[in-house]
Amino acid sequence: FFKQKTAYEIGVRLVGSEMCIRDSPLNHVAIIMDGNGRWGLLHKNSRNERHKAGLNTVEKIIKESIKQKIDYLTLYAFSTENWKRPKKEINYLFSLLENFLLNKTENLNKQNIKLKIIGKKNFSKKLNNLLNSVEKKTSKNSKLQINLAINYGSKFELINAFKKLHKSKDQINEVNLEKHLQTKNIPNPDLLIRTGNTKRLSNFLLWQLAYTEIYFEKKLWPDFNERDYNKIIKKFTLVKRNFGKI
Ligand code: IPE
Ligand code: IPE
Ligand code: MG
Repeated sequence: FFKQKTAYEIGVRLVGSEMCIRDSPLNHVAIIMDGNGRWGLLHKNSRNERHKAGLNTVEKIIKESIKQKIDYLTLYAFSTENWKRPKKEINYLFSLLENFLLNKTENLNKQNIKLKIIGKKNFSKKLNNLLNSVEKKTSKNSKLQINLAINYGSKFELINAFKKLHKSKDQINEVNLEKHLQTKNIPNPDLLIRTGNTKRLSNFLLWQLAYTEIYFEKKLWPDFNERDYNKIIKKFTLVKRNFGKI
């Protein structure tokens, strides 16, 4: 007999406090969290305060993503090009990341969140171990999957995937290539948000974003909040996604 479809499956989600029917369900949101530096200069005049403020936004957006029943949240935290920044800033960023992971792993578990790292894990032994252990500790969680992009670059990812595909002798096609991407088994993002009033992709998920709806947000990442996020989600719900059809 017919299995009754849940509201979730037909794309009915809570948007803000209103019920609305989505043209396409929102399963995966990717975010380029840009504007921390400018925020720091504007508000505290310190390069380091900025990234701390950015972490508060991360927590808000995680909570709201769970409320909105989003399955995957991909956050761009550090690109392969960000190594060109001053050493002091890089060190600070990584110490912030380390502290976040050390202090928040229990919280992630309580909220039933799975954390996956995308990007090349070639950091210090200590950080690599920490990242592996957080991934392992949260691997059974099922409410929300956070893909944290650190030392991530799309071109690097693609070149590696092509190399592996070539070596495997499998046929070169989309499905086989995707098996070698870091986002293997993760559906492509439905929605990409870049904060910080800059309109570019900065080497983020070039393959995976082929049909993603893109929103460029003027606000700097530390100023971005749940309301801004919900506004974008609402706009997303109104878009008819064609995928080439009419
Ligand atoms: C993005 O914020 C975060 C990282 C790259 C780590 P920025 O630090 O690039 O902020 P702006 O663009 O300089 O304001
Ligand atoms: C993109 O931001 C990377 C992250 C948000 C982690 P950048 O600030 O590094 O991007 P560009 O260099 O301005 O393009
Ligand atoms: Mg920037």
